[in-house]
Amino acid sequence: MLHAPVVGPRPKKRSKPEEAGVSRRQEAKFKDVRIFLVERKMGRSRRSFLTQLARSKGFIVEDALSDTVTHVVSEDSQSSSLWAWLKGRSLTDLSAVKVLDVSWFTDSMREGRPVPVETKHLIQDILPEAPKPAPVNKVSQYACQRRTTTENNNRIFTDAFEVLAEHYEFNDLQGRCLAFRRAASVLKSLPWAVRCVEATQDLPCLGEHTTAIMKEILQHGRSFEVEKILSDERCRTLKLFTSVFGVGPKTAEKWHRRGLRSFSDVLAEPGIQLNRMQQSGFLHYGDISRAVSRAEARAVGNIIDEAVHVITPNAILALTGGFRRGKEFGHDVDFIVTTAELGKEKSLLINIIDILKKQGLLLFSDYQASTFDISKLPSHRFEAMDHFAKCFLILRLEASLVEGGLQRAEGDSRDWRAVRVDLVSPPVDRYAYTLLGWTGSRMFERDLRRFARMERQMLLDNHALYDKTKKEFLTATTEKDIFDHLGLEYIEPWQRNA
Ligand code: CTP
Ligand code: MN
Ligand code: MN
Repeated sequence: MLHAPVVGPRPKKRSKPEEAGVSRRQEAKFKDVRIFLVERKMGRSRRSFLTQLARSKGFIVEDALSDTVTHVVSEDSQSSSLWAWLKGRSLTDLSAVKVLDVSWFTDSMREGRPVPVETKHLIQDILPEAPKPAPVNKVSQYACQRRTTTENNNRIFTDAFEVLAEHYEFNDLQGRCLAFRRAASVLKSLPWAVRCVEATQDLPCLGEHTTAIMKEILQHGRSFEVEKILSDERCRTLKLFTSVFGVGPKTAEKWHRRGLRSFSDVLAEPGIQLNRMQQSGFLHYGDISRAVSRAEARAVGNIIDEAVHVITPNAILALTGGFRRGKEFGHDVDFIVTTAELGKEKSLLINIIDILKKQGLLLFSDYQASTFDISKLPSHRFEAMDHFAKCFLILRLEASLVEGGLQRAEGDSRDWRAVRVDLVSPPVDRYAYTLLGWTGSRMFERDLRRFARMERQMLLDNHALYDKTKKEFLTATTEKDIFDHLGLEYIEPWQRNA
């Protein structure tokens, strides 16, 4: 409010502003200064009183706010609302206008001339708060924005979470299952070990239940809830059955409901028809449930490499899956095989299978022909199988081919073992998407897709990336291109162990 005596007391009587103004108006003395008085907060009568006063001293006071105004004077101390109002007036260049507190006006009246504008007179726009720089260790809710190596500093928690996740998966509670997998993934990304739950309060994806489990483990060294599940007969049986190649949770559940509790129960049960994959799964159970080493993976790579180069000199072969992420052991070995000549990849897998069979190395093969349709949009789902030609194999791996020898069970004197191998064969122009999709981890892939859809309005899968806003497919020849399209920092394969 204005208290300075210079402008005198407020007029007691309401005088007609126009008349008063006109009657007392002086010839304009200061042509460069064109004042506009903001009525908001000031009030109508006070505004007309100040207008008359200024005009009587030779100032130009405009009745309307237009581009000719140079000095806007306001009694509104709420600069944000004043500026919001000003911005709504559609002036050509608001930055050319001085927005001033009434103190500039009263100073000018006292001096009888426009006083130079000082900082204290300015009513400044409150700039939108600059986005807070993320604290250095802020952890993203998206696995594709975290760097997760194979070094897990929180295994005691993540192992427990995995038991719970599997338990919920067996009970068809997918939401809870995912919650525990997400929580485990966040903890895996930490370069430090959690020592108290308070340290995790700024982390995403950790809820009441996961925190309670962590507390239990921190206090007692174990979780009773997890132990209960581990000793639960149904859970144990389902876990045993699903460890067989070709047996999913549904089949395991079916067998359990029939009262079957062990492999010998299943194999002795008269009514049970095992499919080809399950038969091989039982036949090679010991071998394929034992981890594959990096040296074994390399030896398998050599076998596949030799086979594809018999077929075409333009072959492209890449190790993918867990071994590409730097894991020392895997449950299988994953490869992408294609050729530089677009279209020639169609017969590639069939030919490779044929060669492996002739070499006597093929113990099992399930070939799935391509159903890839180039015109189709990528899947909306966060977890969806791709449509490229692929095969799930069990190969015979000779000990002599493996540097340092085979991973063998105790007492096993054979000179070979069975190894699970996956091959996928995309057209070469889909190579980058396939490589990104098959490198995993599953949680990393899931979050790449979720990030693309939720944060970028894009659809990503193993085939393509589609921009829904631009309505176009985005091309990529490297994984880096895809991260760039998504506006994501590049994450190295060995940092994708989410
Ligand atoms: N994958 C896929 N489509 C399939 C099979 C696998 O897209 N039909 C992808 C998975 O999403 C995963 C990657 O291929 O990211 C590797 O799958 P898998 O071998 O099951 O897992 P790994 O991460 O390699 O783990 P492991 O070391 O145990 O083999
Ligand atoms: Mn794998
Ligand atoms: Mn695999």
